Parts: sequence; structure tokens; C-alpha cells
Amino acid sequence: MSFSCWLLCISALWLKVSPAESESWNAEVPQSVVGLEGSCVVIPCLFRYPGPTKQASHFTGIWYTESHDKVYDPTPSKISSAFQHRTSLLGDLSQRNCSLKINPLRRSDSGPFMFRIEIEDFNKYTYYQNKVSITINDSLGQPNIYIPEEINSGKRVTVTCSVFHSCPSDPPNFTWSHKGTISSQSLQQTNGQWKITSSLSFTPSKTDNKKKLTCTAAFLGGKKVDSMKTLEVKYAPENVAVISENSVAEGSSVNMTCSSDSNPAPHTYHWFTEARTLLSEGHTFTLNNVSRHIGTIYCTAINTVGHTNSSPTQLNVLYPPEIKTGSSCTLDTSGVTCIFVIDSHPASEIKLWGADPSTELRRTNEEKHGTLTIVILQGVLGFSDAVHCQATNSQGNYTMTLKVPQYPETYNSKLLYISIAATVVFVMIIGFLVWIIRRCRRTEAHLSLQPKTETNVSNQSEPSRKCTDVNPCYDGSQHVYGNMALEEPYEEEYPYDYASEYEETYANV
Ligand SMILES: *[C@@H]1O[C@H](CO)[C@@H](O)[C@H](O)[C@H]1NC(C)=O
Ligand SMILES: *[C@@H]1O[C@H](CO)[C@@H](O)[C@H](O)[C@H]1NC(C)=O
Ligand SMILES: *[C@@H]1O[C@H](CO)[C@@H](O)[C@H](O)[C@H]1NC(C)=O
Ligand SMILES: *[C@@H]1O[C@H](CO)[C@@H](O)[C@H](O)[C@H]1NC(C)=O
Ligand SMILES: *[C@@H]1O[C@H](CO)[C@@H](O)[C@H](O)[C@H]1NC(C)=O
Ligand SMILES: *[C@@H]1O[C@H](CO)[C@@H](O)[C@H](O)[C@H]1NC(C)=O
Repeated sequence: MSFSCWLLCISALWLKVSPAESESWNAEVPQSVVGLEGSCVVIPCLFRYPGPTKQASHFTGIWYTESHDKVYDPTPSKISSAFQHRTSLLGDLSQRNCSLKINPLRRSDSGPFMFRIEIEDFNKYTYYQNKVSITINDSLGQPNIYIPEEINSGKRVTVTCSVFHSCPSDPPNFTWSHKGTISSQSLQQTNGQWKITSSLSFTPSKTDNKKKLTCTAAFLGGKKVDSMKTLEVKYAPENVAVISENSVAEGSSVNMTCSSDSNPAPHTYHWFTEARTLLSEGHTFTLNNVSRHIGTIYCTAINTVGHTNSSPTQLNVLYPPEIKTGSSCTLDTSGVTCIFVIDSHPASEIKLWGADPSTELRRTNEEKHGTLTIVILQGVLGFSDAVHCQATNSQGNYTMTLKVPQYPETYNSKLLYISIAATVVFVMIIGFLVWIIRRCRRTEAHLSLQPKTETNVSNQSEPSRKCTDVNPCYDGSQHVYGNMALEEPYEEEYPYDYASEYEETYANV
């Protein structure tokens, strides 16, 4: 008694808690599903039945055509031959899920189809009111590619590609023409359709600009669809360079262009000198009256993404030669040195000559320092009193004449006097030597006849005695001593000593 009362109470509770619809037989299916021929289709299905009092029951789910051909039955042999091996129940019937998968879908599979549930020890029901038909299509449409409005080089970007499908168990696979990180996401639509979106994340570079981006979706069964879009990658100017003629003559004008590679094209250009003085704005810049001192010039290209400078450009300014005022000829003891300093661009052909223009003088040295050429000519001038130098390049020629300095007059005469004096002295010395030699020979002859005595010496006056006694014939030193004695009368004894020595020597001889 108490047990039945308890049961009643439970039943009453159940009735109150359960929603009203769970009591009726109905199935939740779309009226129509779009499927791709050759691919798979899933018919989503949820069935309801009046709640049985017993919980765990055994369910059997069957799908029929209108003509009661079995589309699906848990016993494969009972399935109509038209659907053999092509159908399966995806859903878990105990969860009231009766979703049906048909793979591959045929053009004849249009339906309509209906579901039947058989619940063990309870009831059986075919949902005639909830029929579903399949629209078989050749294509579910092209994939739809989405690319963000602005793609900048170096900034990571995500592009997407989406396509509809009707097979959530085996959604299409995507491939992209560009490398990157791929992820995908499916979203259920109405009528059993799904939308799968593949996302590709990558960092675009300048080289991706104008590249075609293709996304391909491969459906189960092999059908493929693709879509393509052209990438537009924006990037700051690159390879900015000043373009101008190779060389320009001084005083003329030159057109320069600021070239660059950018997307979008630069909207502004700036022209600067080395010292950042703004010269001009505009794609081309005309420089008038070009000077050799112009220095370097560079341009800046500016677009919506950024700005970039070119490298500084040195104009190749051509000008005729000029022989600088520092050029000169100098004279010193080693001879004449002429130095010519020539400034020209390009370098000049240099010709030097003296009195005769047809005879070119050979330079001693030639050095180059930038646009300057230094020519040195040393001591090979002959009798010319001027040196001519002509420098010629493609821009013109320049001739300079330098006077060769001569040795001054006074210097010359002094030199002459010195030479004469030196000659005279030399002649006198020779003459004296000759005289002495002759004299010696004569004295030798005299001595052999008259031997010298002490008394003989003392009788004579001192100077004369010395003169005769000091015999200069023995050697140079004796001669010198004799002379010294002559000039220094205070040291009278020395000559005597020598004289006695001499006498001894003579005696020995
Ligand atoms: C039914 O089952 C399928 C396959 O397991 C699943 O994808 C789907 O979400 C289920 N439907 C519901 C309404 O639970
Ligand atoms: C069916 O295919 C046609 C082209 O063959 C297409 O235009 C139409 O959008 C498709 N229908 C669906 C629902 O995908
Ligand atoms: C997608 O790719 C996976 C792995 O390569 C494969 O197993 C699956 O069958 C493919 N699906 C389709 C729809 O082609
Ligand atoms: C520079 O460009 C202008 C305009 O295009 C042209 O008239 C002029 O002759 C050019 N000058 C030179 C030196 O090329
Ligand atoms: C060109 O520049 C030089 C100095 O660099 C100047 O003397 C000359 O007058 C200028 N000529 C013109 C036409 O401006
Ligand atoms: C030097 O230049 C003048 C014009 O300035 C020209 O008449 C002459 O022929 C040139 N001489 C040489 C050697 O090139």
C-alpha cells in the first residue's frame, strides 16, 4: 500500500517536472538538407516520445523512404540495396539522437525520409509528420576568402576562407597557397548546413604584394573548390636612390629623380644637401648651374606607411683644368725645381716644355691627390729661362708659364773670384815646392865641398845663421821647425840644439 502510494507520488512528480512536449511523439529534423553529390550528408535528428516509466530501455532506430524502403536498419541485410553500405546512425538513441549519415550521397537520394523508433517493452513509432528531404547539389558554392582591408609588411595578419558543407563528421580540409598557421572552426547553420572557416595567420612581406592567395577546400569524396584573391601588402619605400646623369659639366643643369620601391607609391619626396638643407620637393629635382663644390645630395621618399632616405649621392661634376697659383720654380744648390699643381676633373693630360715647344720635358714625378695633380720637374731644363705647362681634359685646356730663376750676378762673380784666388794659391804652392826642391839639391852639392864648423856659425848674425844652418832637406818637419825658430826669436837655443844634432848626423854621413 505504502509502495503504490510512493509510486504515485513519483509519477505525480515526473508529470510536473517533465515538459509537456516530451509526452508527444515528434522528431526534430530539418525539412530539407543540402548535400554535395559524392560527398557525405548528415541529417540531424532528435526524437521525442511520451516518457516511459521504465528508464533503461532498448532502442532500435530505423530510417525509411516514403515507399517504406529501409534506408537504415541496425541489421545491414535489412537495408534496401539502394542504400547498402552507405548509411549509418550517428546519434546515440538513448540520448534521443537519431542523426543519419549518408555517404557517398547519390543524386537519387533526395528522399523524403522518415525515422522510426522501436522502444523495447514500450512502444514503436514512425514520425510521418517529420519528413526530411535532401537537395543534392553539384556544389555548395565557392569558398569565401576574407582579407583585412590593410595589410602591412611585417605585421602579422589573419586571413580566412569559409565554405558550406553538410557533413560535420568529415568536414572539408583546407589548403592555402601561402605558408602560415592554419586553424579551422565549424558553425552550424539552418537546414543541416555547416559553415567551416579556415584561418591562416602569417607575417606578410613586401614580396607577397600582388601575390595570389588561394584557398582550396577538399570535401570528403574528393570534390574540391577553391577561391583566389590578390594580396595587397603595403610597405614603406625601399631601395630609395637618386637617379641622375653619370656626369655633368660644371655650370650646366642636371635633372635628378628619386626612385623607390613602395606600396602605395610615395606621395611626397624631399631633396636634401649633406647638411640637411631642404633643396626641393617633388619626384624630380633640377639643379641649375652645377658647381664642383655641390657635395652630396640625397632624397627621401614618403608614403602612407613610412619614409626612407636614399644614400648620399655625389654628383660627378666635370670641369676644365686650372693650374693653381701655388705652382712655382725654385732654385737651390742642387738645381731648379718646378712644381705645377693642376686641379681638374677628369684628370688632365699634362705637357711640359721649355724653349722648344716640340721637345717635351720629362717630369721627375707626378702625384694625384683627389682632383689635384702635382707635377714635379727637377734640374733638366737645359738653357731655357721659362717652363710651360699645359693641362688638357675633356672640358678644356689651361697653359701656365713659369720663369726659371737664374743664379744672381753677385753670387756668380764671388764664385769666380773664389775660383781665381784658389787657382792662384794653388799655383803659388806648386811654385814654392818646386823652388825648395831645387834649392835643396844645390845645398847638398855645396855641403860636400865645405864642412860646417862651430866658429863659422857663431861669426854670423843670428837670422842669417839660422837661414843657412837649418837645413831644410832632411824632411818636412825639420823644415817647419826651422821656420818656427825663425818666427820666434825668444827660443834661440832650440835651433842650436837642432843644429848640433844635424852636425852629428852630417858627421855620421
Ligand atoms: C547527435 O549526434 C551527433 C553525432 O554524435 C552529434 O554531432 C550531434 O551534435 C548530436 N545532436 C544533438 C542534438 O545532440
Ligand atoms: C547549388 O549549386 C548551385 C550551382 O551549381 C549554386 O548556385 C547554389 O548556391 C547551390 N546551393 C546551395 C544551397 O549551396
Ligand atoms: C582531411 O585530412 C585528413 C588527414 O589528412 C584525412 O584523414 C581526412 O580524410 C581528410 N578529410 C577530407 C574531407 O578530405
Ligand atoms: C630636365 O627636365 C626638363 C623637363 O623634363 C627638360 O626640359 C630638360 O631638358 C631636362 N634637362 C636635362 C639637363 O636633361
Ligand atoms: C653659377 O655659379 C657661379 C658660382 O658658383 C656664379 O659665379 C655664376 O654667376 C653662376 N651662374 C649663373 C648663370 O647663375
Ligand atoms: C685649348 O682650348 C682652346 C679653346 O679654349 C682651343 O682653341 C685649343 O685648341 C685648345 N688646345 C688644345 C691643345 O686642346
